[in-house]
Amino acid sequence: MRSAPIPEMLIEPIPDAAGSARDAIGLGQSAGSGLNTRHGTILTLEDINVSFDGFKALTDLTLYIGVGELRCIIGPNGAGKTTLMDVITGKTRPNSGVAFFGETFDLTQIGEVEIAQAGIGRKFQKPTVFEALSVFENLELAQKTDKSVWASLRARLSGEQRDRIDEVLATIHLDASRQRPAGLLSHGQKQFLEIGMLLVQDPQLLLLDEPVAGMTDAETEFTAELFKSLARKHSLMVVEHDMGFVGSIADHVTVLHQGRVLAEGSLDAVQANEKVIEVYLGR
Ligand SMILES: Nc1ncnc2c1ncn2[C@@H]1O[C@H](COP(=O)(O)OP(=O)(O)OP(=O)(O)O)[C@@H](O)[C@H]1O
Ligand SMILES: [Mg+2]
Repeated sequence: MRSAPIPEMLIEPIPDAAGSARDAIGLGQSAGSGLNTRHGTILTLEDINVSFDGFKALTDLTLYIGVGELRCIIGPNGAGKTTLMDVITGKTRPNSGVAFFGETFDLTQIGEVEIAQAGIGRKFQKPTVFEALSVFENLELAQKTDKSVWASLRARLSGEQRDRIDEVLATIHLDASRQRPAGLLSHGQKQFLEIGMLLVQDPQLLLLDEPVAGMTDAETEFTAELFKSLARKHSLMVVEHDMGFVGSIADHVTVLHQGRVLAEGSLDAVQANEKVIEVYLGR
């Protein structure tokens, strides 16, 4: 540890400052073991460039996420939002730039599996649950590091693991459906199950790409409550087009346009930004 412990009284939440600079303000929670988050910054991206056959998907992108922050990323189609998540999870290697998880993990150097094991969980838009297995079994499988389905299901759960699954079932409101085959769940419930499958792995940073697409209004509202309850204990990066949803959850919003950060701040501030109105919100 290079940093001195911060006295309790100095770690009051300062949402307006969270994640906006190199010394992004953490919101006062521990980031978990093994991850050094000096300055309370869980994710550091600096001058990231990604080109696909000469097409610049990300250009000089700099972004910091504070520990425990709930950041929304918005921007028109093709802005580079999914590419940004691909860089963070090691799926796409940047041509240049710095990408660190805490101070510990250089995301440009380690593989996708190591990045996931380091504590970055990602949810894609389309749910990828095992339809023939029960809700409980899906969570059980996600919790195991050995990904062989049958080996995992045969291995006995410890009491602690079972308690964690029970806790997550309650969090995602699927307690009553624990024995149902996942294939019988509604689209929204499958999305919640997949969020649960991330939660049982206790990731410190959750990346969620368009989580409420295709959800009913009630499911969207529940998702907003869920994400707010996850923030602080976890850090969240949420890509979403639904502005009502973004407005209901965001501490802080980053607007991407043509692979660059166009604006950053509260949703009100970015919605009032002339450049943002021009390229995006006013369309
Ligand atoms: N593997 C790839 N090869 C070539 N071009 C790509 C690749 N991945 C993304 N792109 C291009 O990079 C740009 C950014 O794409 P990206 O998927 O990151 O946008 P997005 O902001 O997630 O858009 P949407 O809101 O539609 O999901 C797009 O023009 C896309 O066509
Ligand atoms: Mg996308």
